[in-house]
Amino acid sequence: MDLKISYSSKGIENEDVEGLIVFLPEKSDTRAAGLSDLPENLKKIINTAVREEVFNGKTGSSQRLITGSAKPSQLLLIGIGKKEELNPEIIRRAAGGAGKALACSKLKSIGVMLSNVLSTSSNKECGQWISEGLQLGAYEFKSYKSSENNSPKNLKVRILDKDALSSAKAVKLGALRAVSANIARTLGNTPANDMNPGKLAEEAKNLCKTEGLKYKVIEEKEMKKLGMGMLLGVSQGSITPAKLIFMEYRHPEAKDTLAVVGKGVTFDSGGISLKPGKSMDEMKFDMCGSAAVLGAMNAVAKIKPKLNVIGVVPATENLPGGNAQRPGDIVTAYNGKKVEILNTDAEGRLILGDALSYTIEKYNPVAVVDLATLTGACVVALGHHATGALSNHSGFMERIRQAGEKSGDRVWELPNFPEYGELLKGKYGDLQNIGGPAGGTITGGKFLQHFVGDTPWVHLDIAGTAWNVKYVDYHPANGATGVGVRLLIDLISDWQPLN
Ligand code: BES
Ligand code: MN
Ligand code: ZN
Repeated sequence: MDLKISYSSKGIENEDVEGLIVFLPEKSDTRAAGLSDLPENLKKIINTAVREEVFNGKTGSSQRLITGSAKPSQLLLIGIGKKEELNPEIIRRAAGGAGKALACSKLKSIGVMLSNVLSTSSNKECGQWISEGLQLGAYEFKSYKSSENNSPKNLKVRILDKDALSSAKAVKLGALRAVSANIARTLGNTPANDMNPGKLAEEAKNLCKTEGLKYKVIEEKEMKKLGMGMLLGVSQGSITPAKLIFMEYRHPEAKDTLAVVGKGVTFDSGGISLKPGKSMDEMKFDMCGSAAVLGAMNAVAKIKPKLNVIGVVPATENLPGGNAQRPGDIVTAYNGKKVEILNTDAEGRLILGDALSYTIEKYNPVAVVDLATLTGACVVALGHHATGALSNHSGFMERIRQAGEKSGDRVWELPNFPEYGELLKGKYGDLQNIGGPAGGTITGGKFLQHFVGDTPWVHLDIAGTAWNVKYVDYHPANGATGVGVRLLIDLISDWQPLN
C-alpha cells in the first residue's frame, strides 16, 4: 500500500486522523518517552497499558488500543526497546512494523508522534527514519492477486512534530528513499515472463523520461560491432534480445562522475549448465542489481546531487535455447580478453565484465560500483544479513561500508588477495569464468576486476540480501528487498572527491 506521508508542525489535537502511532521504549511511560504533548486522556490510556503490561516496549512488539470516547479512536503502540540502545536502524525497523500493521488495517488516516526519545541523537533525521520505515513496511506486491488489486488503497499519514524535532524535508526524503526502494522491489518481484530485457529497458526509459534523465540503449546489432562477446554469449541462448541500458544524471557543477552498474539477468536458468529445479523460480530475482540501479536513479533525479551519475544495466536472459553457448566455448570480451566458458551458469560476471569495461572507457568515471546477485556462495558465506563486497580501493570501499551502515543495507568486505585470482587463469584462453568451489564469491568478484583496470571499484554481491530477508521489520518476509537503493542514495548524497 502506498502511504501519503506528510509533515505537520501541529499537535494531535489539531489533526483530524482516525488513529495515532506512538513509539515507546521498554519500561517507559509517556513522560519517560518524552510525550508530554499528548492529550491527558490518551496519556492515561497508554500509561495504563504499560502499567498493566499489556504492552512492554520491546523491539518488535506492538499493541493496538481502542480509546473509547477519546480522539483519535485507535492507538498503535510500537516498541523501540531499551532507550540507551536506540539507533536509527531500530527506529526504522519499528516504523517498518507499524507500516506493516497499517497495510492490513482499514484506517484511512493516521498521525505519528515524534518525540524527543526518537531524536536523542540530536540530529533532525528522525523524521526521515520514520517515514522511510513506514513506507518500506507498508509495501505489498499484490498486482497478480486478481481478487485484491481492484482499488489501490491510500492512507494519509501525518508526522506530528510540534516541537520541531525533525523537519518536513527529512520526512519527505525518507519517503523518497523508501519509494525508490519499493520501485526496485516491484521490478524484482515481477515474474520473468513480464520482466524481460525489453521490459526492463522500457521501465528505464519511462523513468528517464519522467525524471528528465538521458536514456540510451545499445542493441545486439551494435554490441556485435563493439565486440561485446561475453554479453552476447549469454544472450544467444534466448530469443529475447539483450539490452545494454544507460541512464545518465548530470549536474552542471559536477566534477566527478560515478558509474553504478547492476546485473540484469531477468531469468537465470543456468543455461546449458542447467540449474536444478528446486527454487529455480527464484531466479526471476537475478535482476535485483539492475532494479537497485533504477531505484537509485529515481532518487538521484529528485535529490539532484552535485555529481554525475551513470546507471548502467546489462539486461539478458540466461536460457538453454538451441543457439545457447556451450561449456568450453571461448568468447572475446569487449576489452579483448579471451574467456573460456566452463560453466554457463556463471553468467553474471560475463555480462557485467563487458558492461564495466565499456562504461569505464566511455564515461571515464572516478569510481564504479556494481551490484549483482552473483554467487550462491555468498549466501553460504554471509547468509541474508550482509551484502558481500570486494574492492580494489580501500577509500572507496570505506565509503560504501559507511553508506551501508547508515542506510541499513549492511556490507561486509571479503579479502581481495591476489592468490584468489590465480584460480581464474584459463587453460586455453586468458581467463576462465569459474574458479572452482573454494571462495566462490571472491573469485566471482576477482573475475570482474579484470574489467575495471585501475578505476576505484567496489563489487557488491547481493545474492543473499536481495530477496527473502527475514527478521527485518521493514522488509517483507518474502520477495525482493530493494537492497542497494538506500545505500546508493547515502553514497551519492554525501559525495566527496576520493583521495
Ligand atoms: N544468479 C546466480 C547466483 C545465485 C544463486 C544467487 C542462488 C542467489 C541464489 C549466478 O548466476 C550463478 O548461477 N552463480 C553460480 C556460479 C558458479 C557456477 C561458479 C553459483 O552460484 O552456483
Ligand atoms: Mn547463473
Ligand atoms: Zn545469475
